[in-house]
Amino acid sequence: MPRVTTYTLRKGSPAKTRTDVVVVGVVRRGEGAPAVAAGGEEVAAAYGRRLSPLLSASAFRGDLGEVLRVPTGDTLRAGQLLLVGLGADEAVDDDALRRAAGTAARHLGNAASVSLALPMTTPAQVGAVAEGFAGGSYSFTRYKSGAEPTAVGEVSLLSPVARDPEAVAALERAEVLAAHVAHARDWVNTPPNDLTPAAFADAVVALAAAQKGRGPKVEVEVLGPDELRELSCGGVLGVGQGSANEPRLVKLTWRPADAAARLALVGKGITYDSGGLTIKPGSSMTTMKYDMGGAATVLAATFAIAALGLPVEVTCYAPMAENMPSGSAMRPGDVLTMHDGQTVEVTNTDAEGRLLLADALAMAVAERPDAVVDAATLTGACMVALGDRYAGVFGDDATAGGVLAAAEQAGELAWRLPIPEQSRTAVGESPVADVLQSNWVRWGGALFAAAFLERFVGDTPWAHVDLAGPAWNTGGASGHVPSGATGYGVSTLVQYAASLVVD
Ligand code: BES
Ligand code: MN
Ligand code: ZN
Repeated sequence: MPRVTTYTLRKGSPAKTRTDVVVVGVVRRGEGAPAVAAGGEEVAAAYGRRLSPLLSASAFRGDLGEVLRVPTGDTLRAGQLLLVGLGADEAVDDDALRRAAGTAARHLGNAASVSLALPMTTPAQVGAVAEGFAGGSYSFTRYKSGAEPTAVGEVSLLSPVARDPEAVAALERAEVLAAHVAHARDWVNTPPNDLTPAAFADAVVALAAAQKGRGPKVEVEVLGPDELRELSCGGVLGVGQGSANEPRLVKLTWRPADAAARLALVGKGITYDSGGLTIKPGSSMTTMKYDMGGAATVLAATFAIAALGLPVEVTCYAPMAENMPSGSAMRPGDVLTMHDGQTVEVTNTDAEGRLLLADALAMAVAERPDAVVDAATLTGACMVALGDRYAGVFGDDATAGGVLAAAEQAGELAWRLPIPEQSRTAVGESPVADVLQSNWVRWGGALFAAAFLERFVGDTPWAHVDLAGPAWNTGGASGHVPSGATGYGVSTLVQYAASLVVD
């Protein structure tokens, strides 16, 4: 069990605070020497002229992501001073703070207490620092024998706006958000032998039951193979039929009394993607436990929206299946009948995500929400187009635009991609069924997949987020983003839901 972390927001001097580590920012100013950022003035004063030679001796420039640990002697009450680079002074925005705080969290050794004296003169900055720090503190050690808890116990945020109720609210929001991002990361990091569709659904039910607090709760409903047959969910059943682990569809509902809008979320929950009979090469399979990343994101976002009490009604659909080859597996050539009655010719069992999303999207739009947003690790082609840090965002201008704006606010990278007429036409060109699942044209595979999904959405405002790239970090940790599961999209979707309240 990770140690429980408590966050407190207060005014206070970083030079006089008794703590294991005090964290101070450093900015680059033009060509000049790096300078201590706002919030660290008293620390800078305590060191006086001794600080600058320390920085230059260690070639510390104040670049974003840089860290330097400085012994304090009796200069400060803290045992150690951790300097974190914030980058160019004029470019220190909330995102730089989020990243720097995340980096700091990963460089605390086994400190039990820490005080953050980063620039926090606005509530938004308080939120960004808390969110970044909490995100960077994440670790996944469930499968490491004898792993000791590493999280810091006490985190103090030292800010001149500590008594501003908006700053207090920003801290609370950041804690809630980070906790739910951690749930998404945990689900995605859990190995596929332990996170089967049934186990994933159980984990969601358990989280719903563990919710505390006042007011309405998230309702959860789990559909198994029998119910899915009754609902004619040919996509979910087809994808799941080759596996010994049966499919599920989890539906979460958050219904606040004062809802200003109704939002539907849909997420791809392939707990393992071997490709099925159109099997993947071994090297493409190793990380395919993260193919339920879209489902993890929309589920965690729904819980977060509820925990924050946002006045937006959310219905979340997470179809879950394991894509395996076997004697009972779906074949290329099969024709499936989806929830809305459209038939689909399967040509490649590795294009499974769109099949189970088709059912879930059709179910979602049948309830006439104001908007539907889906998230899916849908295509390798999206990663070819945009790399592994940007999500591709498709859909109508208003909804896709709203999601892109929310991503910008959340500090998550996203880029608009088109659905060309050409792709729409291609999706209609099955010789035997209403819809063609996949063609063998290599170009624009992410666009074809989006055009396929669009068929099941009808005229409901819709955005599709292909997060095959950013849902998983193959490299080392960076800022508040760990290696492995990133929790990408949770923050964006919460922000998007909040944006529906404003007007
Ligand atoms: N889950 C994959 C997409 C994927 C690939 C996610 C790499 C993350 C990293 C998806 O089910 C898939 O296999 N897509 C195929 C589609 C193709 C067969 C039309 C792909 O992208 O190659
Ligand atoms: Mn696949
Ligand atoms: Zn897949």
